[in-house]
Amino acid sequence: MRIIPFTTNCGVVIDDVDLADLTDVDFQKIKQAFATHGLVFFRDQNFSPLQHIELANKFGKIVHNRIFKNLPDHPEITLVSKDKNQTTNIGGGWHTDHSYDKEPAMASILVARELPSSGGATKFANLSAAYNGLSEGLKTTLSSLVALHSNDHLYGEGGYFSGTDLADKLADDVEVNHAKHPIIITHPESQKKVLYVNKGHTIGIEGWKTEEAFALLNYLYEHGCKEEYICEFNWLPGSIAIWDNRMTWHYANNDYQGEKRTLHRITIAGQALT
Ligand code: SIN
Repeated sequence: MRIIPFTTNCGVVIDDVDLADLTDVDFQKIKQAFATHGLVFFRDQNFSPLQHIELANKFGKIVHNRIFKNLPDHPEITLVSKDKNQTTNIGGGWHTDHSYDKEPAMASILVARELPSSGGATKFANLSAAYNGLSEGLKTTLSSLVALHSNDHLYGEGGYFSGTDLADKLADDVEVNHAKHPIIITHPESQKKVLYVNKGHTIGIEGWKTEEAFALLNYLYEHGCKEEYICEFNWLPGSIAIWDNRMTWHYANNDYQGEKRTLHRITIAGQALT
């Protein structure tokens, strides 16, 4: 197995490994790479939905997603899909999955299933590197602040998705959640400091007026997606990405109008963040 940096700050590619037939030693190496980098990519995997579930179970408890529809035969797997006649996509803005939960998801495992002839890449950002790039003064200011997160504005009644042509992809029992988390968290495994706000789901800062909060948040969003912290992964048949939701943002490019794109996602449970 080889672990090769994808870009300087963003992700690693792991090759010479078959995820459908992993030894314990190989899995431990993948887990270690995941803990260190928060983002691991694989190519050329031949990976059934059952093998996807098996790999997810090795990482932890699967979160039963109640935002988008799951596969009828495998409710552990969420369908991240856009049909050729649809124009809106899932995840088409910088976000991290499930920050609106009190115990935000640890990881997501995304598997390519049906790809457009071009486009449809996913961008990622490393929020631990972005934290390190802040001044000591701003780090100190942020260290006492708590951010408010929600998914109501996106998936709730009258939320963004209900007014788009992707409304049919929403789960029938959509779950609306709200949570508060420190703006700077200590990563539960690596103990690294991480900037934990995201444009998709952060709706304010505790004790601050909305316009004050967004002046600061918008600065942090711009900072987090600076060139040096981000990378872009082009999906090919057999590609898989596993990311740590406590350490990364992602953004699904919506540049393949008129073509279908389907990926399968499993999300792994996390814990309260401090
Ligand atoms: C997501 O936001 O989980 C989907 C990412 C993608 O489709 O590339």
